Amino acid sequence: MNTIINTDITQAARLLAAGEIVAIPTETVYGLAANALNPAAINKIFEAKGRPRDNPLIVHVSDMEMVHGLGLEVSGLAEKLTKKFWAGSLTIVLKKIKDIIPAEVSCRLDTVAVRTPAHPVAMELIKICGFPLAAPSANISGSPSPTRAEHVMADMNGKIPLILDGGRCDVGVESTVVMLDGDKIRVLRPGAVTPEMLAKFGEVVIDDNGSLHSPGTRHKHYSPRAEVIAVEGDVTGMGGYIINDPSPQTLYAMLREFDEAGAEKIFIRLPRPDGIGLALYNRIVRAAEFKIIKVE
Ligand code: TXA
Ligand code: MG
Repeated sequence: MNTIINTDITQAARLLAAGEIVAIPTETVYGLAANALNPAAINKIFEAKGRPRDNPLIVHVSDMEMVHGLGLEVSGLAEKLTKKFWAGSLTIVLKKIKDIIPAEVSCRLDTVAVRTPAHPVAMELIKICGFPLAAPSANISGSPSPTRAEHVMADMNGKIPLILDGGRCDVGVESTVVMLDGDKIRVLRPGAVTPEMLAKFGEVVIDDNGSLHSPGTRHKHYSPRAEVIAVEGDVTGMGGYIINDPSPQTLYAMLREFDEAGAEKIFIRLPRPDGIGLALYNRIVRAAEFKIIKVE
C-alpha cells in the first residue's frame, strides 16, 4: 500500500467512512483512527500497530452530545469533568449500558474510554464523519508515540493509506485516563490534565501501576530501540545520549531522533512527579522498564 501525507480532511473522512484506517493529528499525539462503529475497521488498527488484543482503544467524539448516542452511562461527575476539560486531554472510562460500541473497541470490557481531542483538524474531521473515531496512538505497539506526521510515516509506511498532517502536537504526551469510582477519580494514566487540576472535583487516586483497570499500562511501552536508563539526579556528566531536562513537547521526538543516530543507551533525568511531571515520570520509568539509578 502506498502511504501518503497531506492535509485533505475530506479525503480522510471518505476513507474512514469506507472502513479504512487513517492517522490523524490530536493535541496530545497522533492517533490511528477508524470508525468506532465498524468492527472490521477496528481490526485493521490492531493489525497495523501489532497491538495486543487485550488493550482497549479510546473513542474520540465531537462532544458530550455524541457520547449520549453511544449507550454509555454518564454520571453527574463525568458531566462536570467533561464540561471543564473538553475539548482536551482528559479521557473518561464510562460504563456500557447499550451494545452500540462493538466489543472489538474495548476488548470485551463492559466500559468504553472516550475523549474530545482539542485539535482543530481532529474536531473538523469527526464533525464531517458524523461517527466517533476509535484511535490509539499511531506508533508501532511499544515504541514512542508520534508527535509529528513524519514519526507516523516512519512506523506506518505501507500499512495505511493516509496520514493527515496537522503539524506538531502541542501537548506531546498521551491524554490523562480516568475512571470514576463513586465520587473518587482514579487516574489510570497521568497526562496534561493533572491530579492537582482534578482534585477540585473529587478525591484523586493515582492507579497507574498496570492494574486490572487499565490493561494498556501492563504492556511494554514508549520504548525506543536504545536502552533507556532513568536517573534520579543530574545526567549532564554522563556523556553520550542524555536528556537532562525532559519536557512533554520533546521527549518522544528526542527518543526517536537518538534511535536514528544509533544510540545504544539513553540517560534521562527523572522530573519531579507532580503536575505534568507525573505524566513524564510515568512514561520515562516505563521506557526504562522500571529500572531507576541514583546519582549524587
Ligand atoms: O492522547 C491520547 O489518549 C491518544 C490520542 C490519539 O488520543 N491516544 C492514546 O491511545 O494514547 P492508546 O491506545 O495509546 O492508549 C489508550 C489507553 C491505554 O492505556 C488503554 O488501556 C486505556 O487507554 N483504555 C482504553 N479503554 C479503556 C477502558 N475501557 N478501560 C480502561 N482503560 C482503557
Ligand atoms: Mg499508545
